[in-house]
Amino acid sequence: VKVAGKVAIVTGGGNGIGRAVAARLAGAGARVLVADLDAEAADQASAEINETHPGATISAGGDVSDEVTIRGLITMVKDAYGPADLFFANAGIATGRGLNAGEDVWDRAIEVNLRAHIRAARLMLPGWLERGEGYFVSTASAAGLLTQIGSPVYAVTKHAAVAFAEWLSITYGDQGVRVSCLCPMGVNTNLLRAGAANADEPMSAASSKAVTSAGAVLEPDQVAEVVMEALADERFLILPHENVLEMYRQKSSDYDRWLRGMRRYQSRLLSDS
Ligand SMILES: NC(=O)c1ccc[n+]([C@@H]2O[C@H](COP(=O)([O-])OP(=O)(O)OC[C@H]3O[C@@H](n4cnc5c(N)ncnc54)[C@H](O)[C@@H]3O)[C@@H](O)[C@H]2O)c1
Repeated sequence: VKVAGKVAIVTGGGNGIGRAVAARLAGAGARVLVADLDAEAADQASAEINETHPGATISAGGDVSDEVTIRGLITMVKDAYGPADLFFANAGIATGRGLNAGEDVWDRAIEVNLRAHIRAARLMLPGWLERGEGYFVSTASAAGLLTQIGSPVYAVTKHAAVAFAEWLSITYGDQGVRVSCLCPMGVNTNLLRAGAANADEPMSAASSKAVTSAGAVLEPDQVAEVVMEALADERFLILPHENVLEMYRQKSSDYDRWLRGMRRYQSRLLSDS
Protein backbone atom coordinates (compact mmCIF):
# COMPACT_ATOMS: atom_id res chain seq x y z
CA VAL A 1 0.00 0.00 0.00
CA LYS A 2 1.12 3.58 -0.53
CA VAL A 3 0.64 5.33 2.80
CA ALA A 4 0.98 8.88 1.47
CA GLY A 5 -2.38 10.62 1.83
CA LYS A 6 -3.83 7.73 3.85
CA VAL A 7 -5.46 8.05 7.26
CA ALA A 8 -4.34 5.83 10.13
CA ILE A 9 -5.23 5.07 13.74
CA VAL A 10 -2.36 3.81 15.89
CA THR A 11 -3.25 2.42 19.31
CA GLY A 12 -0.59 2.45 22.00
CA GLY A 13 0.89 5.29 19.95
CA GLY A 14 2.04 7.29 22.96
CA ASN A 15 5.19 5.24 23.48
CA GLY A 16 7.54 2.67 22.03
CA ILE A 17 6.74 0.87 18.80
CA GLY A 18 3.41 2.65 18.24
CA ARG A 19 4.97 6.06 18.63
CA ALA A 20 7.76 5.19 16.17
CA VAL A 21 5.26 3.79 13.67
CA ALA A 22 3.10 6.93 13.95
CA ALA A 23 6.17 9.10 13.29
CA ARG A 24 7.18 7.03 10.26
CA LEU A 25 3.62 7.14 8.88
CA ALA A 26 3.52 10.92 9.24
CA GLY A 27 6.95 11.14 7.59
CA ALA A 28 5.58 9.17 4.65
CA GLY A 29 2.67 11.58 4.20
CA ALA A 30 -0.09 9.83 6.14
CA ARG A 31 -2.32 11.51 8.73
CA VAL A 32 -2.47 9.75 12.03
CA LEU A 33 -4.59 9.57 15.16
CA VAL A 34 -2.26 8.67 18.02
CA ALA A 35 -4.35 6.87 20.67
CA ASP A 36 -3.15 5.74 24.06
CA LEU A 37 -4.43 4.90 27.52
CA ASP A 38 -1.87 7.44 28.68
CA ALA A 39 -3.45 10.60 27.24
CA GLU A 40 -0.45 12.72 28.11
CA ALA A 41 1.92 10.38 26.25
CA ALA A 42 -0.41 10.44 23.23
CA ASP A 43 -0.51 14.25 23.27
CA GLN A 44 3.26 14.49 23.61
CA ALA A 45 3.92 12.00 20.81
CA SER A 46 1.50 13.85 18.54
CA ALA A 47 2.95 17.28 19.36
CA GLU A 48 6.49 16.04 18.72
CA ILE A 49 5.57 14.53 15.34
CA ASN A 50 3.68 17.69 14.36
CA GLU A 51 6.81 19.79 14.94
CA THR A 52 8.36 18.12 11.89
CA HIS A 53 5.12 17.33 10.06
CA PRO A 54 2.67 20.13 10.88
CA GLY A 55 -0.93 18.97 11.17
CA ALA A 56 -0.03 15.33 10.47
CA THR A 57 -1.36 13.94 13.71
CA ILE A 58 -4.04 14.33 16.35
CA SER A 59 -4.20 12.51 19.66
CA ALA A 60 -6.69 10.91 22.02
CA GLY A 61 -6.59 9.25 25.41
CA GLY A 62 -8.61 6.15 26.21
CA ASP A 63 -8.70 2.42 26.73
CA VAL A 64 -8.67 0.86 23.26
CA SER A 65 -10.07 -2.42 24.54
CA ASP A 66 -13.34 -0.54 25.12
CA GLU A 67 -15.68 -0.58 22.13
CA VAL A 68 -17.08 2.87 22.94
CA THR A 69 -13.55 4.28 22.93
CA ILE A 70 -12.76 2.68 19.56
CA ARG A 71 -15.99 4.09 18.09
CA GLY A 72 -14.95 7.50 19.39
CA LEU A 73 -11.51 7.22 17.75
CA ILE A 74 -13.06 6.25 14.42
CA THR A 75 -15.41 9.25 14.52
CA MET A 76 -12.68 11.61 15.67
CA VAL A 77 -10.29 10.68 12.86
CA LYS A 78 -13.10 10.80 10.29
CA ASP A 79 -14.05 14.34 11.33
CA ALA A 80 -10.42 15.50 11.25
CA TYR A 81 -8.99 13.71 8.21
CA GLY A 82 -11.60 11.39 6.67
CA PRO A 83 -12.29 7.68 7.21
CA ALA A 84 -9.40 5.58 8.51
CA ASP A 85 -7.65 3.48 5.85
CA LEU A 86 -5.27 1.77 8.26
CA PHE A 87 -5.79 0.54 11.80
CA PHE A 88 -2.74 -0.40 13.88
CA ALA A 89 -3.89 -2.56 16.79
CA ASN A 90 -0.65 -2.07 18.64
CA ALA A 91 -1.48 -1.39 22.31
CA GLY A 92 -0.44 -4.35 24.41
CA ILE A 93 0.51 -5.43 27.89
CA ALA A 94 3.01 -7.99 29.14
CA THR A 95 1.68 -9.31 32.42
CA GLY A 96 1.15 -12.58 34.23
CA ARG A 97 3.84 -14.96 35.36
CA GLY A 98 3.37 -18.71 35.75
CA LEU A 99 0.33 -20.90 36.14
CA ASN A 100 -0.97 -18.94 39.10
CA ALA A 101 -1.48 -15.67 37.24
CA GLY A 102 -4.87 -14.50 38.52
CA GLU A 103 -8.15 -14.54 36.62
CA ASP A 104 -8.14 -10.74 36.59
CA VAL A 105 -4.67 -10.72 34.98
CA TRP A 106 -5.84 -13.17 32.30
CA ASP A 107 -9.01 -11.16 31.69
CA ARG A 108 -7.16 -7.89 31.26
CA ALA A 109 -4.54 -9.37 28.90
CA ILE A 110 -7.23 -11.04 26.79
CA GLU A 111 -9.10 -7.72 26.61
CA VAL A 112 -6.07 -5.65 25.55
CA ASN A 113 -3.97 -8.11 23.55
CA LEU A 114 -6.83 -9.84 21.74
CA ARG A 115 -10.36 -8.52 22.12
CA ALA A 116 -9.28 -4.94 21.35
CA HIS A 117 -8.21 -6.27 17.92
CA ILE A 118 -11.49 -8.10 17.36
CA ARG A 119 -13.56 -5.06 18.36
CA ALA A 120 -11.53 -2.73 16.15
CA ALA A 121 -11.81 -5.07 13.16
CA ARG A 122 -15.55 -5.46 13.68
CA LEU A 123 -15.95 -1.67 13.59
CA MET A 124 -13.54 -1.03 10.71
CA LEU A 125 -14.56 -3.83 8.33
CA PRO A 126 -17.97 -2.56 7.12
CA GLY A 127 -16.45 0.71 5.82
CA TRP A 128 -13.45 -1.06 4.33
CA LEU A 129 -15.61 -3.64 2.56
CA GLU A 130 -17.80 -0.88 1.17
CA ARG A 131 -14.77 1.03 -0.12
CA GLY A 132 -13.04 -2.16 -1.27
CA GLU A 133 -9.88 -1.43 0.69
CA GLY A 134 -8.49 -1.17 4.18
CA TYR A 135 -5.46 -2.31 6.14
CA PHE A 136 -5.38 -3.94 9.58
CA VAL A 137 -1.97 -4.18 11.23
CA SER A 138 -1.79 -6.30 14.35
CA THR A 139 1.12 -6.00 16.75
CA ALA A 140 1.44 -9.50 18.15
CA SER A 141 4.91 -10.73 19.10
CA ALA A 142 7.44 -13.47 18.38
CA ALA A 143 5.79 -14.93 21.50
CA GLY A 144 2.71 -15.41 19.33
CA LEU A 145 4.62 -17.70 16.96
CA LEU A 146 7.01 -19.35 19.43
CA THR A 147 6.25 -18.87 23.13
CA GLN A 148 7.04 -16.64 26.10
CA ILE A 149 9.12 -18.34 28.73
CA GLY A 150 7.56 -17.65 32.13
CA SER A 151 4.32 -16.08 30.93
CA PRO A 152 1.44 -18.24 29.71
CA VAL A 153 -0.69 -15.08 29.66
CA TYR A 154 1.53 -13.32 27.14
CA ALA A 155 2.23 -16.46 25.07
CA VAL A 156 -1.45 -17.36 24.78
CA THR A 157 -2.86 -13.89 24.12
CA LYS A 158 -0.19 -13.19 21.48
CA HIS A 159 -0.84 -16.55 19.77
CA ALA A 160 -4.49 -15.57 19.73
CA ALA A 161 -3.66 -12.22 18.13
CA VAL A 162 -1.70 -13.99 15.39
CA ALA A 163 -4.58 -16.43 14.85
CA PHE A 164 -7.08 -13.58 14.57
CA ALA A 165 -4.90 -11.69 12.07
CA GLU A 166 -4.51 -14.85 9.95
CA TRP A 167 -8.26 -15.44 10.03
CA LEU A 168 -8.98 -11.86 9.03
CA SER A 169 -6.60 -12.10 6.08
CA ILE A 170 -8.05 -15.38 4.87
CA THR A 171 -11.64 -14.24 5.26
CA TYR A 172 -11.42 -10.72 3.79
CA GLY A 173 -8.17 -10.69 1.78
CA ASP A 174 -10.03 -11.20 -1.50
CA GLN A 175 -12.28 -8.21 -0.76
CA GLY A 176 -9.48 -5.67 -0.59
CA VAL A 177 -8.70 -5.90 3.12
CA ARG A 178 -4.98 -6.24 3.78
CA VAL A 179 -3.64 -7.62 7.05
CA SER A 180 -0.15 -7.64 8.48
CA CYS A 181 1.04 -9.11 11.74
CA LEU A 182 4.10 -7.69 13.49
CA CYS A 183 6.01 -10.28 15.53
CA PRO A 184 9.16 -8.80 17.06
CA MET A 185 11.36 -10.20 19.81
CA GLY A 186 13.06 -7.67 22.09
CA VAL A 187 12.44 -3.98 21.43
CA ASN A 188 13.82 -1.28 23.69
CA THR A 189 10.57 0.13 25.12
CA ASN A 190 8.92 0.71 28.51
CA LEU A 191 7.25 -2.69 28.21
CA LEU A 192 10.60 -4.48 27.97
CA ARG A 193 12.26 -2.29 30.60
CA ALA A 194 9.37 -2.83 33.05
CA GLY A 195 9.79 -6.60 32.63
CA ALA A 196 13.48 -6.36 33.48
CA ALA A 197 12.80 -4.10 36.46
CA ASN A 198 10.29 -6.60 37.90
CA ALA A 199 12.69 -9.50 37.58
CA ASP A 200 12.76 -10.10 41.32
CA GLU A 201 12.03 -13.82 41.26
CA PRO A 202 13.68 -16.49 39.08
CA MET A 203 10.80 -17.06 36.61
CA SER A 204 10.36 -13.32 36.00
CA ALA A 205 14.10 -12.94 35.52
CA ALA A 206 14.15 -15.89 33.10
CA SER A 207 11.15 -14.47 31.23
CA SER A 208 12.83 -11.14 30.79
CA LYS A 209 16.20 -12.63 29.88
CA ALA A 210 14.58 -14.95 27.34
CA VAL A 211 13.53 -11.91 25.32
CA THR A 212 16.82 -10.06 25.50
CA SER A 213 19.19 -13.02 25.04
CA ALA A 214 17.50 -14.74 22.08
CA GLY A 215 18.42 -11.96 19.66
CA ALA A 216 19.27 -8.29 19.30
CA VAL A 217 17.19 -5.76 21.21
CA LEU A 218 16.06 -3.35 18.49
CA GLU A 219 15.11 0.30 18.82
CA PRO A 220 11.45 1.15 18.12
CA ASP A 221 12.43 3.16 15.04
CA GLN A 222 14.23 0.14 13.54
CA VAL A 223 11.03 -1.85 13.97
CA ALA A 224 8.96 0.96 12.46
CA GLU A 225 11.24 1.02 9.42
CA VAL A 226 10.64 -2.70 8.83
CA VAL A 227 6.89 -2.14 9.29
CA MET A 228 6.92 0.51 6.56
CA GLU A 229 8.74 -1.86 4.15
CA ALA A 230 6.24 -4.62 4.88
CA LEU A 231 3.30 -2.25 4.29
CA ALA A 232 4.75 -1.28 0.92
CA ASP A 233 4.94 -4.99 0.02
CA GLU A 234 1.64 -5.80 1.75
CA ARG A 235 3.42 -8.67 3.49
CA PHE A 236 1.50 -10.51 6.21
CA LEU A 237 4.27 -11.53 8.57
CA ILE A 238 6.53 -8.71 9.76
CA LEU A 239 9.66 -10.03 11.42
CA PRO A 240 12.11 -7.29 12.43
CA HIS A 241 14.27 -10.05 14.00
CA GLU A 242 15.09 -12.30 11.07
CA ASN A 243 16.07 -15.28 13.25
CA VAL A 244 12.44 -15.63 14.37
CA LEU A 245 11.60 -17.14 10.98
CA GLU A 246 14.24 -19.86 11.44
CA MET A 247 13.01 -20.58 14.99
CA TYR A 248 9.45 -20.79 13.68
CA ARG A 249 10.54 -23.22 10.98
CA GLN A 250 12.33 -25.37 13.56
CA LYS A 251 9.22 -25.43 15.72
CA SER A 252 6.97 -26.56 12.88
CA SER A 253 9.42 -29.08 11.44
CA ASP A 254 9.91 -31.01 14.71
CA TYR A 255 7.66 -29.91 17.57
CA ASP A 256 9.05 -32.34 20.17
CA ARG A 257 12.64 -31.38 19.43
CA TRP A 258 11.67 -27.69 19.70
CA LEU A 259 9.94 -28.30 23.07
CA ARG A 260 13.03 -30.13 24.40
CA GLY A 261 15.21 -27.24 23.22
CA MET A 262 12.93 -24.70 24.92
CA ARG A 263 13.06 -26.67 28.20
CA ARG A 264 16.87 -26.69 28.02
CA TYR A 265 16.91 -22.97 27.25
CA GLN A 266 14.57 -22.25 30.16
CA SER A 267 16.65 -24.24 32.67
CA ARG A 268 19.77 -22.43 31.51
CA LEU A 269 18.04 -19.07 32.05
CA LEU A 270 16.73 -20.16 35.46
CA SER A 271 20.14 -21.38 36.62
CA ASP A 272 21.72 -18.08 35.51
CA SER A 273 19.21 -16.01 37.47
N1 LIG B 1 8.98 -4.29 23.48
C1 LIG B 1 9.06 -5.54 23.08
O1 LIG B 1 10.09 -6.21 23.32
C2 LIG B 1 7.92 -6.17 22.32
C3 LIG B 1 8.15 -7.39 21.66
C4 LIG B 1 7.11 -7.99 20.97
C5 LIG B 1 5.87 -7.38 20.90
N2 LIG B 1 5.66 -6.21 21.56
C6 LIG B 1 4.32 -5.61 21.47
O2 LIG B 1 4.42 -4.32 20.92
C7 LIG B 1 3.28 -3.54 21.31
C8 LIG B 1 3.74 -2.18 21.75
O3 LIG B 1 4.49 -2.31 22.93
P1 LIG B 1 5.82 -1.49 23.24
O4 LIG B 1 6.91 -2.45 23.40
O5 LIG B 1 5.95 -0.37 22.29
O6 LIG B 1 5.48 -1.00 24.73
P2 LIG B 1 5.19 0.43 25.35
O7 LIG B 1 4.83 0.14 26.76
O8 LIG B 1 6.30 1.37 25.06
O9 LIG B 1 3.92 0.93 24.54
C9 LIG B 1 2.66 0.37 24.70
C10 LIG B 1 1.66 1.48 24.78
O10 LIG B 1 0.36 0.90 24.81
C11 LIG B 1 -0.43 1.66 25.70
N3 LIG B 1 -1.55 0.85 26.16
C12 LIG B 1 -1.53 -0.25 26.97
N4 LIG B 1 -2.78 -0.69 27.18
C13 LIG B 1 -3.61 0.15 26.50
C14 LIG B 1 -5.01 0.24 26.35
N5 LIG B 1 -5.83 -0.65 26.94
N6 LIG B 1 -5.52 1.24 25.60
C15 LIG B 1 -4.71 2.14 25.00
N7 LIG B 1 -3.37 2.11 25.11
C16 LIG B 1 -2.83 1.13 25.85
C17 LIG B 1 0.52 2.02 26.83
O11 LIG B 1 0.05 3.14 27.57
C18 LIG B 1 1.80 2.32 26.06
O12 LIG B 1 1.92 3.69 25.72
C19 LIG B 1 2.58 -4.38 22.39
O13 LIG B 1 1.46 -5.03 21.82
C20 LIG B 1 3.63 -5.39 22.79
O14 LIG B 1 3.06 -6.56 23.32
C21 LIG B 1 6.66 -5.58 22.25
